[in-house]
Amino acid sequence: MTIKHILGNWKMHGQKKQAIELTQAIVAFKIPENVKTAVFPPFTSLHIVASELIASKIALGAQDCSNEIGGAFTGDISTLMLAEAGCKYVIVGHSERRAQHNESSELVKHKAEAAISAGLIPVICVGENIGERESGTYLQAITKQTKDSLPSLAHSSKFIIAYEPVWAIGSGKTPSLAEITEVHKTIASLLSYDTSVAKHDAVKTAIVYGGSVKPENAREILASEGVDGVLVGGASLKAEEFCKIIESAA
Ligand code: 13P
Repeated sequence: MTIKHILGNWKMHGQKKQAIELTQAIVAFKIPENVKTAVFPPFTSLHIVASELIASKIALGAQDCSNEIGGAFTGDISTLMLAEAGCKYVIVGHSERRAQHNESSELVKHKAEAAISAGLIPVICVGENIGERESGTYLQAITKQTKDSLPSLAHSSKFIIAYEPVWAIGSGKTPSLAEITEVHKTIASLLSYDTSVAKHDAVKTAIVYGGSVKPENAREILASEGVDGVLVGGASLKAEEFCKIIESAA
């Protein structure tokens, strides 16, 4: 059975009413056996969504975390707080945080390590910008970003890598299937190089694709070589669309 991860990043959407309605609609959907799915609401809706997810197969994730354990870090949220709120996953290094909050790969690596320490599974995002894609330097850019963002002791830790080309996010544009496979293979080769036991099932690293995933293109993306799932933005805010994407992974 091939496991596929279907992850819904709500970004800065999902106040109480929307969060409850959306979660209830997804919970009512029968998740296929081979699908691992999770939703990533904003921090303020984590508790309410967690209570809706009780007894469901759907996991909870947060969209960011601090690299610090605790202390004088006004406005930040620690990974222990996220674990206590019921999270299983946390996204780190999303391109919106790298661009809008100036997050470096070094910081992303420390966030991933903090997540692993708290028993969370970090979803580490990497991806080239349009300039890197057009100039043909995207594989070098992604290789550097991935290597610099990987937690130390990566070989013995569980994490997910999300390949999200910046130019594909929210744009309706996606790379070709061959281009997605090319990048996923490149990332996988870094993992087996850096992590001798990455192929072992218990620590096998899933590599998911994100950027304008919709019900219309999900099936072919999910069926592409090297694609272990998808990280969905806009379409994860509509229960019908998100459930269709889940269905297409069956
Ligand atoms: P869209 O699916 O809206 O393009 O967003 C992708 C994304 O950034 C998920 O993290």
